[in-house]
Amino acid sequence: MRRYLLLAVTLLMAWTNSAEAQRVVVPTPQYYLPANGFVELDGSATIGYTDDTLMPAARYLAERLGAKYSGDAEADILLSLDEDFATEQYRLYVGRPQITITGGGYGGVFNGIVTLMQLMPNEVFGGVPAKRYRVEECVIEDAPRFSHRGFMLDVARTWIDKEAVKAYIDLLAYHKINVLRLHLTDDEGWRIEIKSHPELAEVGGFRGGDSPVKPRYGRWNERWGGYYTQEDMREIIEYAAVRNIEVMPEIDLPGHSLCMASIHPEILCGYTPSNRASLGYDTRSAFCPSKEANYELLKDVIDEICQLFPTKYIHIGGDEVEMSQWRSCPDCRAFMVAQGMSDTKQLQAYFMTRIANMVASHGKVASVWNEAIDGGHLPPSTRVYGWEGVAECRKAAAKGYSTVVMPGQYFYFDMKQTPREPGHDWAAIFDARKVYEFTPRKVGFTEAEMANVVGLESSFFSEIYLSHNPESADYLHYQTFPRMVAFAETAWSSSDERSWEEFYARLVAHYDRMDCMGIAYRLVPPSVSYADGMLTASVDDGSDIYYKREPMEVEMLYTAPIETTAPAEYSFVARRGRAASAEAAVAAHFRTITPTFKLTSSMGSSERFSFERAEEYGRLARTTRSADVGDWVQYTFERPVMCRRMKVATGNFQLPRYNIENGYVEVSYDGSSFERVGELEDGVFYIMYPTRAIKAVRITSTSKGNGASWVSIQPPTIYPLL
Ligand code: ACM
Ligand code: ZN
Repeated sequence: MRRYLLLAVTLLMAWTNSAEAQRVVVPTPQYYLPANGFVELDGSATIGYTDDTLMPAARYLAERLGAKYSGDAEADILLSLDEDFATEQYRLYVGRPQITITGGGYGGVFNGIVTLMQLMPNEVFGGVPAKRYRVEECVIEDAPRFSHRGFMLDVARTWIDKEAVKAYIDLLAYHKINVLRLHLTDDEGWRIEIKSHPELAEVGGFRGGDSPVKPRYGRWNERWGGYYTQEDMREIIEYAAVRNIEVMPEIDLPGHSLCMASIHPEILCGYTPSNRASLGYDTRSAFCPSKEANYELLKDVIDEICQLFPTKYIHIGGDEVEMSQWRSCPDCRAFMVAQGMSDTKQLQAYFMTRIANMVASHGKVASVWNEAIDGGHLPPSTRVYGWEGVAECRKAAAKGYSTVVMPGQYFYFDMKQTPREPGHDWAAIFDARKVYEFTPRKVGFTEAEMANVVGLESSFFSEIYLSHNPESADYLHYQTFPRMVAFAETAWSSSDERSWEEFYARLVAHYDRMDCMGIAYRLVPPSVSYADGMLTASVDDGSDIYYKREPMEVEMLYTAPIETTAPAEYSFVARRGRAASAEAAVAAHFRTITPTFKLTSSMGSSERFSFERAEEYGRLARTTRSADVGDWVQYTFERPVMCRRMKVATGNFQLPRYNIENGYVEVSYDGSSFERVGELEDGVFYIMYPTRAIKAVRITSTSKGNGASWVSIQPPTIYPLL
C-alpha cells in the first residue's frame, strides 16, 4: 500500500500543474490529478464504510446526497482507513469500480468527504443535488500543514444560541477548520451551565433590565441573553465531532470576570472602589488571587468543564487583567510580600498555575492567552495562544510552549475590512488578502520556533455584534467570510509561495458554492469613476451592482454608465445571493464637515479628557460621571449648520461602549427652543435631510448608568449638502 502511495504521489507531483480543467477545491489540495471520464451518481447511490468508527461520516455524506449508507464494501462510495496515513491525511479516488476515500483517521476521511463534495454540484452544500449528476474522475492526495486550524467564537458578549452555533459549525466544516473554541465567559455573560453553581448561567447568562449583571454593550433596559445547558453543549460537541471539529471551551480568568463578580462579589479584591461616578456600578472585574475560597469555587467550575468537554485542551484565559485592582488590594499586597513577589504579573502566574494544575488533575492541558506567561513559568505543557502580535507568538514558541498563532493583526475577524466598513480597528484594518498572504516565515518565525507552533486560529469577538441585530447571522457572516476561506487555505496549505491573484480567481469560483451554503459574505465594493459626465461602476467577480440616488432610498439594478451632473448623489453596492459589499461612490459622497461647536453636559467635563481639548486625544472627550435618567449632552454650533445627514451618538467610535444607549434626540434651530426628533437606536440617531439649519442638538439619557464612570463624547458626523 505504501509503495503504491509513493508512486502515486510522484506521478501526481509531475501532473498537477497540467491540470487545467480541474474543479476549484478550497483549501487547495496538495496533489490533484484529474482524468477524462466521469462517474455518474443519483439518488440510489450508496455509501459504505469498512470500519465502524466511520459510520457517522458515511451518514453525514449520505444525508447531503440523499443517499443510503451501510457497511457494504461494494458501495458506490467507500470510506476506509489506512494506518500508514497521518490522521488527517486522505486519498480520494474518483473512478471505477467505485469512489474511494481513504484516511489516516476519521479526520482524514472527513477531509476527503469535503473535497468530494466540492467536486459535486454546488447544491450538495445547500440541499440534496439533482437526481443525476456527474463527478469528474480524479485522484487527490492531500494533508493539512497544521493540525490545529481553529476559529474562536465569542458567545459571551453576544449570545449565540445552539442552533446558530451548529449552523456555523457546518460552514467551518465545509472549509476543513477542525477546532471551534467557544469563548464561554466574559465580563458580559456566562454561557455554560455549571450544575454545582447553577446561578452562574441562570443569572449570569442574562444581563440588563433587572439582572444584577449590568451590560456594558447595548440593550441597557432589557434583560437579554441565554446559556447552553450541559445537554445542549453535548449536542454541539457531538454535532461538531461528526464534522471533524473539536470543541474547546474557554473560561476567561482571572480578569474578564465582571459577570461572575456581579453574582459573587466576594471573589473580588478586598477594597471598596470609589463608585460614585459610576452610579454604584462596580467595575472591578478580576478574581482576587489571594483568596483561597476563589480556588474552591473555580475547582468546581473547572472539574465540570473538564468532565463535559472531551477535548484535552481547556482554555483558562489570562488576558488583559486590570492589575491595578491587585495593587489596591491589601490582601494581594500582603500575599505578594509573603510569597516574595515583586510584580503583579507573578501573582497572575501563580493564579494561572493553580488553575492549570486543576486542569492537569483531569489529565488535560491548560491553554492561556499570551500575557499569562509574562510573570514566570507556567507548567511546561501549557498551550499559549498569541493574540497581541507576532512577537508574542514567537516569544511563547521560543520559550518552548506549544503555541497557537492568532495575532489580531491577521486573524481577528472582528476588525474592519476597509476604513468605512463596520468593525474594530485597534489591531488592524484588513481584508481576505492579508489573511491569505500570511506565512509564518514571512512574519519572521524561525524553524526552531515553528517546531512549537501547533497551528493557527482566527476569531470573532462579538461586542459589536450587538449593534448588528444578533438574531440574524449576517454580521457574523460578513465579518468572517471570505476571510475564513483565506484562513482555511493559509492554515492548510504547506506552500509559502502564495499568489493572491491565483487564490482570488478560485475564491470567486467558490462564491457560487458559498451562495449555496447560504453565507451572507462580504463582497469587494464596486469600483466607481466619473468622467465626461458619465458615472461608471464595475466589479470583477460577476456580482450584480445596484445603485441609489439620494435622497431616495430605492435601489435600482445598474446596467450601464449613468449620465449625470451630480455624481456624489449616487452610491453603489455589489450583491449576489445573500452576499453584499459596502457602499461605494465618488469621494465627495462620503465627505464630512467639522463645523465648530461648543459642548455642554449635565454630567460635566472631565479634567483629563476635557471637552475643550478633545482634538488632542482622538476627538473623544469624557464627562465626569456616568449617565443617569435625564442626563444630557448638547452640541451648540457656532453657526447654524445646513446638511443632508447628521449622525449623533455618544461613546467610542466603533464600539457601543461608554455611551448613552437609551435616549432621545432633540434639535434646536434657534439655540433655545428644542423639538424632539427621535429615539436613539443602539445608541445612534440619524437626523435626515433637515429642512432648516441646525443650531444645536441634544441627546438625553432615559436609563440609569452606562457601565463606566464616564460617558465618552464623540463629535457628530455631518454630511454636507451636495
Ligand atoms: C483578547 O483579545 N483579549 C484575547
Ligand atoms: Zn486581592
